[in-house]
Amino acid sequence: MRILNIAVLASGSGSNLQSLIDKQNEGYFNGKIVLVISDQKDAYALVRAQKNGIDQMYMDRRNYDDNEAYNLALIEKLNTYNIDLVVLAGYLKILSPTFINSYHQKIINIHPSLLPMFGGKGYYGIKVHQAVYNQGVKVSGATVHFVEEGVDQGAIIIQKAIELDDEWVATMIQKEVLKIEHQILPLAVKYFCNGQLKIVENRVLIRRNK
Ligand code: GRF
Repeated sequence: MRILNIAVLASGSGSNLQSLIDKQNEGYFNGKIVLVISDQKDAYALVRAQKNGIDQMYMDRRNYDDNEAYNLALIEKLNTYNIDLVVLAGYLKILSPTFINSYHQKIINIHPSLLPMFGGKGYYGIKVHQAVYNQGVKVSGATVHFVEEGVDQGAIIIQKAIELDDEWVATMIQKEVLKIEHQILPLAVKYFCNGQLKIVENRVLIRRNK
């Protein structure tokens, strides 16, 4: 089976990127991270890529007239690497419809809640976990989903839940949920690379016999 070319887009520390790099090194999935792009100059994700010999680049949105121009530049870059899968690992910019159509059903995102709860516009980073805490829900978790138009929309690939300890404040919930993210994102990549995922309407069916 061909090894798939993976691009990771990240805006922050890149701990999810790191989990992918670690799993890739173990041969956990049939893919290779060939490019990491960040919209943030100081994103530690870029350093992680560099340390692991992965091509990386900072693309400053301010160098482009509008979001569409920025997205066209992203597409052009990804095309030069023959990318099969785009992983959004803490990427905070909204991808344009043109981008999403160019990589139709080839973009996945990790979100730190059990979607559709605590998702959508404004739910990112610690804000997600603060909302979970304020709501007093007893479980939270993480979701990997295909990316479609609309923030945090798209067919769900994997979800994993954890029970919340009454003592946990938002930062502790974040820490625990992150551990789950580091498990399910590589797993989703593995399923994708093996061709185990099939989208039927808004549902993702996973063929588990591989
Ligand atoms: C993660 O919680 C991810 O779910 C969210 O942004 C955070 C990124 O963390 N989309 P990291 O940069 O991978 O450490």
